[in-house]
Amino acid sequence: MKQSPVEQKLSRLVPDLNQRLRQDVARPKRGRVRRVVGVVVHATVDEVRLGEICNLVDPKTGRSVRAEVVGLENEQAILLPLADLTGLSSLTEVVPTGAALQVGVGPGLLGRVIDAFGKPLDGGPEEMPGVERNYSVHADPPSPFARALVSDPMQLGIRALDGLLTCARGQRVGVLGEPGVGKSLLLSDIVRGTDADVAVVALVGERGREVREFVERQRAAGGMARTVVIAATSDRPAIERLNAAYVATTIAEYFRDQGKHVLLALDNVTRFARAQREIGLASGEPPTRRGFPSSLFAALPRLLERSGPGEKGTITGLYSVLIEGDGTLDPVAEELQALLDGHVFLSSELAQRNHFPAIDVLRSRSRLMDTVVPAQHRADAGRIRELLARYAEVELLLRVGEYEKGHDAVADEAVARIDRINDFLRQETASHETISAAQKRMREILDEKA
Ligand SMILES: Nc1ncnc2c1ncn2[C@@H]1O[C@H](COP(=O)(O)OP(=O)(O)OP(=O)(O)O)[C@@H](O)[C@H]1O
Ligand SMILES: [Mg+2]
Repeated sequence: MKQSPVEQKLSRLVPDLNQRLRQDVARPKRGRVRRVVGVVVHATVDEVRLGEICNLVDPKTGRSVRAEVVGLENEQAILLPLADLTGLSSLTEVVPTGAALQVGVGPGLLGRVIDAFGKPLDGGPEEMPGVERNYSVHADPPSPFARALVSDPMQLGIRALDGLLTCARGQRVGVLGEPGVGKSLLLSDIVRGTDADVAVVALVGERGREVREFVERQRAAGGMARTVVIAATSDRPAIERLNAAYVATTIAEYFRDQGKHVLLALDNVTRFARAQREIGLASGEPPTRRGFPSSLFAALPRLLERSGPGEKGTITGLYSVLIEGDGTLDPVAEELQALLDGHVFLSSELAQRNHFPAIDVLRSRSRLMDTVVPAQHRADAGRIRELLARYAEVELLLRVGEYEKGHDAVADEAVARIDRINDFLRQETASHETISAAQKRMREILDEKA
């Protein structure tokens, strides 16, 4: 086709216009940092998505810091850097990567302690052979119809739980208690005592000492070989503490997809919630219940729904929660109880009496127990619960010497058997037992002549 004189002139002036246009389309749309307030970066970028990772690049020094998009406001993106920002200049460019945070997964993770980016924290080799592919840390839960039905019990190795609050493979349970009642120690004992194929443990916002203690305890028991620990201690940035929980869930999903029965322990959800609150408030979200932003109440079900049964394998989730008093006013505890299929309350009163693990059996529930235990087990557990409840009713009378035998057969039996029941419920830390041993002991307690 013949070009007009004007067109001929134009094409001489900008011969490579088309080529330049094409390059522009192919090149990632860079943005600019506009404002940095505290740890929050506001930037103008053409096209980014929530959860996307961007690189903040200083064009002079070439220094680059990864940051996650956590909000969008007035044509600006709100980003949280994943590392220290010191030294970045006002010229800093924002380069979207088009992808959310990813973590390398594979059998090479077993026995390792990593941070929220999948980097080793245990002083072991940087390269992890057998870490074969990347999973995005923000995944959707399996569709309800793609999940197998729960049908088998999961041994936790703790008599009080396996006997009276049996957990199913793929069940999700909250472990609630005041500070220092033994939540972390209980989770640690469960990780050793469970018959799960793989244990994935997220230590979120713990003290550095506790991470070390956890790993040493597992090593001493030989349980580390099938365990992966993901740790983000309390001094790490909020986004890292948050991501530790997502990364752990992602790693558990990988092993579940391999057909394994995985135990996922998250210690603890309260610190996850606080990290979400820090981020919400810093990015301008208004606080709602107890200062927690509404994004938390959207994030919790998204996180918790990812555990549970898959098509082949299962993720049994244990989520510890720090509560004050009886926890009735705690929005995180309340939300968790609504979302999970069971809860285990640890009682400070029992802990004070040196009754460990300090499990308050009567306040705790396992909603799936009845579907996974045989009839005899169900009946025995029901009877022991009944005796415990009746004993609690007459305990005060006993203490003041006003209890009279012979008026109530169940109360008499409860008083006669209480010491054996308490022996059953108490367990030395670092010891574990099978479900069938717990069943046998319950039968013996009830068979013995009262
Ligand atoms: N099974 C147990 N046997 C003996 N002592 C225990 C047991 N569980 C907990 N304790 C005692 O309770 C203390 C606190 O336990 P742990 O650190 O597990 O509590 P926590 O609920 O995780 O506390 P925090 O809320 O501070 O994280 C332990 O140092 C130990 O002295
Ligand atoms: Mg703890």
